[in-house]
Amino acid sequence: MQVFIRVFPYVRRYPLLAFATLFCALMGTLMVVVFPAVTQQIVDQVIGKNRPELLLPLVGLGFAAFFAQNLLNSLRIIFNNHFEQHVIFDLRSELYAHIQKLPLHWFDNRATGDIMTRLIEDVTSVERVLIDGIEQGTVAILQILIVSALMMTYSPMLTLAALSPIPLLAAGALAYTLTARSRYRRQRKAVSELNSLLHDNIAGIRQIKTYTSEEREHIRFDATSNKVRKETLTVMRAWAFYQPGMEFLSSAGLLMVAGFGSSQVLGGRMEIGALVAFFVLVRYLYEPVGRLHQLNQIFQSGRAAGDRVFEIMDAETEEDEGAGALCEPIRGHVVYQNVSFSYDPKLPVLDDIQIEVPVGSMVALVGPTGAGKSTIVNLLVRFYEFTSGEITIDGVPLRSMSRRHLRHNIAVVTQESFLFNGTTAENLRIGKPDASEDEMWEALRAANAVDFIRRLPEGLHTPLGERGVKLSVGEKQRLSIARALLKNPPILILDEATASVDTSTEKLIQEALDHLMEKRTSFVIAHRLSTVR
Ligand SMILES: Nc1ncnc2c1ncn2[C@@H]1O[C@H](COP(=O)(O)OP(=O)(O)OP(=O)(O)O)[C@@H](O)[C@H]1O
Ligand SMILES: [Mg+2]
Repeated sequence: MQVFIRVFPYVRRYPLLAFATLFCALMGTLMVVVFPAVTQQIVDQVIGKNRPELLLPLVGLGFAAFFAQNLLNSLRIIFNNHFEQHVIFDLRSELYAHIQKLPLHWFDNRATGDIMTRLIEDVTSVERVLIDGIEQGTVAILQILIVSALMMTYSPMLTLAALSPIPLLAAGALAYTLTARSRYRRQRKAVSELNSLLHDNIAGIRQIKTYTSEEREHIRFDATSNKVRKETLTVMRAWAFYQPGMEFLSSAGLLMVAGFGSSQVLGGRMEIGALVAFFVLVRYLYEPVGRLHQLNQIFQSGRAAGDRVFEIMDAETEEDEGAGALCEPIRGHVVYQNVSFSYDPKLPVLDDIQIEVPVGSMVALVGPTGAGKSTIVNLLVRFYEFTSGEITIDGVPLRSMSRRHLRHNIAVVTQESFLFNGTTAENLRIGKPDASEDEMWEALRAANAVDFIRRLPEGLHTPLGERGVKLSVGEKQRLSIARALLKNPPILILDEATASVDTSTEKLIQEALDHLMEKRTSFVIAHRLSTVR
């Protein structure tokens, strides 16, 4: 039920599509009454009363009814698909928007493959709950009602015989429903684990090759993949018993009709044509029952997927206390007062930090690895929230500034430069979306990155591969610097920006950085003081 309530608002946005789908489905269902009636007339009138002239019109009527039914079905599928894809699109879009607002520590504890599985596969599964639920559920129930009513007009007693397995069917469905969720949940989890492992291993393929750990990784992959196989089989095994079991009960209804019906005809209480029509009707009665079982399976899988999707939706986003604050221009006087922070409450990383950086000056953070240098600057861009103390810029506490405004005014060249799977131009324009080619070249020149970009076959427009894999680390670093230059903010953070270049390039970049740091508040992180000079 929970999933229904959560998905409903997305479905409600498309009333026309919902109506069209349902309308076609209902109209198509109404057509089921035609064929049993036609059959009865053929048996009783054409054959029984020897009226061959009625045969052609009756067959024609049946033909028209079947044609209309399937045409409506075709339309229903088209409307349904559009409806579905709209809802999936919206749900995915909102989930993505939400993910982008989640704090970094949320990502620290999640596997990328798991998030991807939720966003791509689970969303689809969740949506089916409501759309298929409404449409197929309504149609199936309606068909059962119409057919039962029709059957009643032929023979109430026979109808009761035909319906007699229903309580057992309901009990079976309930048993399946009550146990299915945990099975599906385990299966979704296994799929997620497999995606996560695959994502990790493809990203780490170089490490796997150099450590020649292909075999070990293959074993690990197979073990996880085996879990998917097992859990899927568990899901299917339950279905394998459930579905034929229900089918068997339905057949029992058919046999009851055969037994009772024949005795009725023999006793002269029923026309043979009515019995034949009844048989056709019983088929129409149990066919939607079968569909309801299928639907139940979709529901259970959707519920498990829903838990996973809405777990993300319910995760708390970064709170932006200063969202409504005025965006005063930032000059760059940064002060850390008694700042403490830890990623994990048990392991303090920063304790009572004091730093003051006047506007336009540079502070060097030098220290051994793991000392907390990157952490200090992570707090300034509010990747993480300090636990006590205060950080101010131009006297304004960090938390009373809008996060967007704050980040807009700081450029960070990170320790491990990251480039997106795009071209140089696309990567540079992250720094300044409307940067012209001239501006980009200028920034590249300042970052001493012109030579190697010129050498690329399509220059600025050469794809750089995932994470910029087609460039050397030093080249990537220079691109990151150029990107920061384009952004041109009052505060600059360089986390070992020159760590991965040779000494001659370092000198050139240092010059560029000196220009860059002029009139800017800069945090320069290095292992050795000599790098900072
Ligand atoms: N996301 C994180 N979650 C938990 N602990 C972290 C996280 N990032 C860093 N740490 C821990 O915090 C400590 C400080 O890390 P930090 O990255 O600030 O060091 P650093 O001084 O920049 O080191 P380096 O010179 O190697 O870059 C380390 O002990 C590290 O294990
Ligand atoms: Mg660091």
